[in-house]
Amino acid sequence: MTAPKKLFIRTYGCQMNVYDSERMAESLGGQGYVETQRAEEADMILLNTCHIREKAAEKVYSELGRLKPLKAANPDLKIGVAGCVAQAEGEEIMRRQPAVDLVVGPQSYHRLPEMEQSLREGKKALNTDFPQEDKFEVLKSRPKARRAPSAFLTVQEGCDKFCAFCVVPYTRGAEVSRPVSRILEEARNLTERGVREITLLGQNVNAYHGDGSDGVEQTLAGLIWRLNGIDGLERIRYTTSHPNDMHDDLIAAHAECDKLMPYLHLPVQSGSDRILKRMNRSHTAESYLRLIEKIRAARPDILMSGDFIVGFPEETETDFQATLDLISEVNYGYAYSFKYSSRPGTPAAERAQVDPAEADDRLQRIQALITKQQQEIQADMVGRDLNVLVEKPGREAGQMVGKSEYLHAVHIENSDAAVGDMVRVRIVEAKRNSLSAVSR
Ligand code: SAH
Ligand code: SF4
Ligand code: F3S
Repeated sequence: MTAPKKLFIRTYGCQMNVYDSERMAESLGGQGYVETQRAEEADMILLNTCHIREKAAEKVYSELGRLKPLKAANPDLKIGVAGCVAQAEGEEIMRRQPAVDLVVGPQSYHRLPEMEQSLREGKKALNTDFPQEDKFEVLKSRPKARRAPSAFLTVQEGCDKFCAFCVVPYTRGAEVSRPVSRILEEARNLTERGVREITLLGQNVNAYHGDGSDGVEQTLAGLIWRLNGIDGLERIRYTTSHPNDMHDDLIAAHAECDKLMPYLHLPVQSGSDRILKRMNRSHTAESYLRLIEKIRAARPDILMSGDFIVGFPEETETDFQATLDLISEVNYGYAYSFKYSSRPGTPAAERAQVDPAEADDRLQRIQALITKQQQEIQADMVGRDLNVLVEKPGREAGQMVGKSEYLHAVHIENSDAAVGDMVRVRIVEAKRNSLSAVSR
């Protein structure tokens, strides 16, 4: 028997890439690869890349430059680029960095086994097609190995919204939903392997509209209700949602579905209607605020999270103030803010850019406000009794770490809980990025 080949995967970008990396590792497992955490000992290195902002995309080339010398030590080493940079730049990647042997776009991962075969024959391999078949159906291998208590499950991919700043519709293609039966099958497999929390993923997850077994399309709410019936599964989350797809049945599920967690990531991007229009967001600040009112009426304790872009082309100080006002009105438990990054091929790239120093200044101001809100909401958790899904031991003796219903990281002191347990705790202190708790 020959020793198994070693695979090293580095993942950038969003959770969908994390999920895809797991699937690629399983697929290459079928080709005789086992995963390693050390690039130096790998026979194949895969970078699963992100194209969302310029910095993310450029990082890939500097990483490739660093990895290239490993080929001198191991002439059989193959280097591959997957993910959204692979989709966006294709062959150009091999031109810019000839050490790259394989380029594979996100819709073609089920082609990996045959691509790997080409590499064995000394050829380079490139595939950035958008094929019709469900890649996850072909990629499905159902390993039995134990899993960590919390897992991702992609249910929807792609985006038809075409926000003026965003590359996702180009790198991930049109919106596609997976059938309900396959998602349920995968969820059952995960729970059999120790998973107790599933986060449903999609670039526009609440636009989900998958085939039900009865030939009727299911919404995301319908899917969540089906998952709610799986024994052993205790928590359901989903991300990322678009305000326009936040329909009444999903809002009602937040009130009625006991396994659906009180946390919602609902990016708005800006609080200025003028900018939202220029972003092609097709909602207003007011409609977003009314939507949150409705969601909070259904589930008063829901923790809101969002994404913001500052320095979008033509954004004025007045527009930016409107964003700060919206943040103050919503009160976010988590929020992510980004300086606008001009992306080739997107409509906004052609427009007048905001002065970079001004954009930096706005980023600092928005982050200060967001941090203040986050910390106040964390401080409000002190004294409350919450449920924590235990994920791993902490750094200190006797400490276990997990997540609350609201997705806060919680350190439980002097705990005898095991990984995968759901424990009732009392929050005793709010730290900068986590909460401390004692068992109840
Ligand atoms: N599908 C999700 C998120 C996609 S990307 C959604 O619709 O909300 C994640 C976040 O990156 C976006 O919400 C946006 O805030 C940010 N982003 C996307 N393109 C960007 C760009 N060109 N520059 C800066 N931030 C960007
Ligand atoms: Fe990008 Fe907009 Fe689609 Fe989100 S909704 S992925 S921001 S185009
Ligand atoms: Fe990045 Fe692609 Fe995800 S661009 S954010 S890895 S969909």
